[in-house]
Amino acid sequence: MNLSVVILAAGRGKRMNSLVPKVLHEVLGKPMLQYTIDAVKVLKPQKTVVVIGNGADAVRNRMATEDHLSFVIQKRLLGTGDALSVAKKELKKDTVLVLNGDCPLITTKTLKTLVENHKRDKNVVSFLSFIDSTMSGYGRVLRDENKKVTGIVEDKHATHEEKKKFKELNSGVYILETEALNYLDNIKKNRDSGEYYLTDLVGIVSKKGERLNAYICPSEDIRGVNNRRELHEISDIIRKRTIARLMDHGVTFIDPDTSFVHPSVSVGKDTIIYPNTYLEGKTKIGNACIIYPGSRIFDSTLGNNVIIKDNTVIEASRIGNESSIGPFAHLRPHSIIGRKVKIGNFVEIKKTSIGNETKASHLTYLGDAIVGKNVNIGAGTITCNYDGRNKFNTVIEQGVFVGSDSQLVAPVKIGKGAYVAAGTTVNKDVPAGSLAISRTKQQNLIGWARKRQLRVKS
Ligand code: UD1
Ligand code: CA
Repeated sequence: MNLSVVILAAGRGKRMNSLVPKVLHEVLGKPMLQYTIDAVKVLKPQKTVVVIGNGADAVRNRMATEDHLSFVIQKRLLGTGDALSVAKKELKKDTVLVLNGDCPLITTKTLKTLVENHKRDKNVVSFLSFIDSTMSGYGRVLRDENKKVTGIVEDKHATHEEKKKFKELNSGVYILETEALNYLDNIKKNRDSGEYYLTDLVGIVSKKGERLNAYICPSEDIRGVNNRRELHEISDIIRKRTIARLMDHGVTFIDPDTSFVHPSVSVGKDTIIYPNTYLEGKTKIGNACIIYPGSRIFDSTLGNNVIIKDNTVIEASRIGNESSIGPFAHLRPHSIIGRKVKIGNFVEIKKTSIGNETKASHLTYLGDAIVGKNVNIGAGTITCNYDGRNKFNTVIEQGVFVGSDSQLVAPVKIGKGAYVAAGTTVNKDVPAGSLAISRTKQQNLIGWARKRQLRVKS
């Protein structure tokens, strides 16, 4: 079967009450439309046409990396029937799978079942339906006394009797053969709304005596997003699905209700995730890690046995096995942390690589630096990497000991095994094996305090 796909994504999304096109609203880090695109991709269609209109440029730009898509513009938003007519010009005589762009729960598995049913029953039109008495705003599937589908009536146009009698709802996912597409021109403008409803095609095809059917699937596989409440409900379904999958793979969640994990994230066996945690984007976490509360990890890779202590933010960084980060640490993008490293309280690291077994335990900023292995960075060490105009690099070679409260004014290099005395401002290179010290000599004025007391009293 030569399959083409049409995704309807031109609508206003009025009920979202938003300046952002509905299909670009994100569900766990991914625009709704992307879910549909990803689900159909696996079916390897000949062509995938996306109908855009409202916020067309924004939608096209956001999907720029999906170079297999063809976009067509629906100039006037005259309804789903009109949207498919616009796309039809792009299609060959293929079987066409039509979906709405506001249905992120759809999976390849559900679509494959529809394709199989369609083929087996040799239909001209097949579509997915569901039964859920808590939902409103969906089209209702009309069936005759022999259970044959005779049409779809939109919720807002359904009579009281129809609402009572017909509980099966239209999902908006259809497979249409060319015979059915040829009837598109027969759809009449709805008198109340002025729109051309794709759903009317079902009634037309039924009247022509063609083979058609609706296949019921679970509501949780197919319901869509029309407003912000549903956006939350659908996000929560996908969040729970993702966490359940990870639990099945051997990950412990202390409180799955307060962990937010994007479906794109992978987590290894025996890792423990504490409450109120955010694992986002392309994050990959190894085995037996512990992620303590309040942490957010974005687009980062963690090895095995890594510990992320409370309230730590990690962005686009890499952390080696057995390292420990936090509490209250911030790894900014492009930080590369080696094995058995300790990054402690209130440490900020940016675009810096840190060698194995190095420690920066407290109150430090390391930016644009290359730090070797077995280095000790004392509390309060700061790389001064910015002169107000440009950024400069700091190199700290292996085995260096940087005393507390030191400033390293970049560009600067501290050679292998050197020491920097506490309180030093390093502004020229330190040769390997030497001590850098830059502070005024301490004087002790013996008995000074007693003398001061006497002075104050008199
Ligand atoms: C539609 C169906 C309804 C079904 C529901 C399932 C119709 C008339 N109704 O209703 O039976 O139960 O989906 O979710 O089809 N769109 C365009 N151009 C337009 C109008 C809409 O591209 O002129 C796109 C929208 O961007 C959206 C999709 O079509 O992705 C569905 O439109 P929407 O307005 O959400 O339809 P529903 O009222 O949900
Ligand atoms: Ca909808």
